Amino acid sequence: MISTLLSQPNGPDGDSTPRLAYGADYNPEQWPREVWEEDIRLMREAGVNIVSVGIFSWARIQPSEDVWDFAWLDEVMDLLHAGGIGVDLATATASPPPWLTTAHPEILPVTAAGETVWPGARQHWRPTSPVFRTHALRLVRRMAERYAGHPALVAWHVSNELGCHNIYDYSDDAATAFRDWLRARYTTVDALNHAWGTAFWSQRYSGWDQILPPRLTASHPNPTQQLDFKRFSSDALKEYLRAERDVLREITPDVPVTTNFMVMGGIKGMNYADWAGEIDFVSNDHYVHPGPQDRDELSFSANLTSSIAGGRPWFLMEHSTSAVNWQPVNLPKGEGELVRDSLLHVAHGADAVCFFQWRQSAAGAEKYHSAMVPHAGSDSEVFRAVTGLGRTLQALAPVAGTEREPARVGIVFDWESWWASEQDSHPTSHLDYHQEALDWYSALLALGIRADVVTTRADLDRYQLLITPVLHVIPAALAKELTRYVENGGHLVTTYFSGVVDENDHIWLGGYPGALRDLLGIRIEEFGPLPAEDTVELDDASTGTLWTDRITVTDPEVEVLAHYRTGTYAGRPAVTRRAVGRGSASYLSTRLGADGLAGLLPRLLDTAGVESELPAAARGLVEQAVRRSADSRYLFLVNRTDEPVPLPGLTGELLVGRADSDGVLVLAPREVAVLRQPTP
Ligand code: GLA
Ligand code: GLA
Repeated sequence: MISTLLSQPNGPDGDSTPRLAYGADYNPEQWPREVWEEDIRLMREAGVNIVSVGIFSWARIQPSEDVWDFAWLDEVMDLLHAGGIGVDLATATASPPPWLTTAHPEILPVTAAGETVWPGARQHWRPTSPVFRTHALRLVRRMAERYAGHPALVAWHVSNELGCHNIYDYSDDAATAFRDWLRARYTTVDALNHAWGTAFWSQRYSGWDQILPPRLTASHPNPTQQLDFKRFSSDALKEYLRAERDVLREITPDVPVTTNFMVMGGIKGMNYADWAGEIDFVSNDHYVHPGPQDRDELSFSANLTSSIAGGRPWFLMEHSTSAVNWQPVNLPKGEGELVRDSLLHVAHGADAVCFFQWRQSAAGAEKYHSAMVPHAGSDSEVFRAVTGLGRTLQALAPVAGTEREPARVGIVFDWESWWASEQDSHPTSHLDYHQEALDWYSALLALGIRADVVTTRADLDRYQLLITPVLHVIPAALAKELTRYVENGGHLVTTYFSGVVDENDHIWLGGYPGALRDLLGIRIEEFGPLPAEDTVELDDASTGTLWTDRITVTDPEVEVLAHYRTGTYAGRPAVTRRAVGRGSASYLSTRLGADGLAGLLPRLLDTAGVESELPAAARGLVEQAVRRSADSRYLFLVNRTDEPVPLPGLTGELLVGRADSDGVLVLAPREVAVLRQPTP
């Protein structure tokens, strides 16, 4: 889908060869007219073939309720088309203009404490506001009617990063929509009372009108109310996405529709696994948070995006050429990182590499955010790296349209468990769901093993080893599926605080982890979370933090892989494995961190019969990802280190990368090589 965006016969430059898309958000309204010509010239120089236009243009397109000004945008569209550059056209609804919020302050979001979120930044609109929706959809219709059939138009970009700033709104509109959502889920107030456990603290409702979003309360708000509000808030924005999409499909049925997701650490409000089916192709934005696992997190995010896209190619809508402007300290990227980060996304299925943004702003809150054309202009290291990347992406054209080759290890990532496991009033407030999943991923990378980060919707049977870190919420059907997976010969590994509650956040009684107790052959009577700085020693020389469990083994088939050596549960099991026919079910009751997991994993991988596909000397130093078509496999080999790494024994056609004088592929520091091999 993405590789063909640019290759329709009437596409932007009439060239019908599939290729990777390359470009940025383009905000020409921030610049005088004469800069536009230079922009197009430099875009061509850089190999840019697509830009996203109009994302924050509402106030310019519709300066007041009944005045429309499309002339400037017509000209931008025409100029881009003449330059052979396609347009991913935004619906322009992301940031409502001042005239609208002045006339209709009732579209402004409200915090849990009842404060109004005022205009002055962006995305100050309630997802459930009928007034906002009327105005926004009117704009969407105008945009679609105006640009239907324009030869530059290759895709629609709904709004921008839905939920980035406005996922949780506690307004009266939200209360009304929340009640409708709850009525659809539970039908009766009695059913809701049961699900929410309202026998507790005199919370029983006797009518729908008494129910509110979880606004500021005197003590812990009802946990199921909180969980349902998270589900509702994700659904409310999904519903808004559908409303824009439906207008676009009505007027331009042949133009694919997307919206940019934010699959990355720290963003958890939107259940993208559930949104992906609403759009024609998945797009993602990703920004690096510098730290010891930063590129593993990039890889993890791209990998999960690929799963959400069903293994098909997806569109990297935004990342940064260098520093951002919204972290406490905004570090520039080092040499090679712009290209390496971009190709790491391509390795995991991105068929488009785009940046925020084309030209670095001279004014506004993002003027210190890097761009493809920096403040210094085109005579700069950044722009030279940008043009170099453009050439590299041209060399990678054969990759366009290829799918991900599934790995043998799956790591399950589940939004419901992310939401529920980190709620308040739990055994510890230090649990970090995303970090635990990332640690397993990092540990596998350190061993040279590639894994797919998948959601519970994936075909789990394709994995020899399935890791479900902190899979806290396990409804009965999922418990059955995991049991069947193991009985069919799969090897399941799960961790502390998994299988503890059902979809209503009610405890599975009779000893933890109720949903998996029989499968694991263990019973836990009490959790033993650890104070923030405390550690516990295991008898396999590893060290745990955060959590321990008081485990009793209940099944003779259970082998204890490690015991606690210190702490409250010294002498008791810490890591267990139950053999089930050809399969097995293992449990890890503490947090080992990426290094500790890399110590434990070889035993688990061995049981599952999974080995690294990399030459022994490269394991841990190189990440490998594989894309494939009917006749070719594309091996992406990513140097995870700041040293050169030789990769002897690998054969194939080098699309990107260099061999030494003996013909051995050598990865320079931070370099990515791409090798084409025939599909066996
Ligand atoms: C998000 C937004 C962009 C821009 C970047 C900056 O991704 O979509 O408009 O603000 O962040 O990193
Ligand atoms: C207080 C309250 C109880 C209960 C306990 C929990 O004592 O009176 O209802 O909430 O705290 O520690």
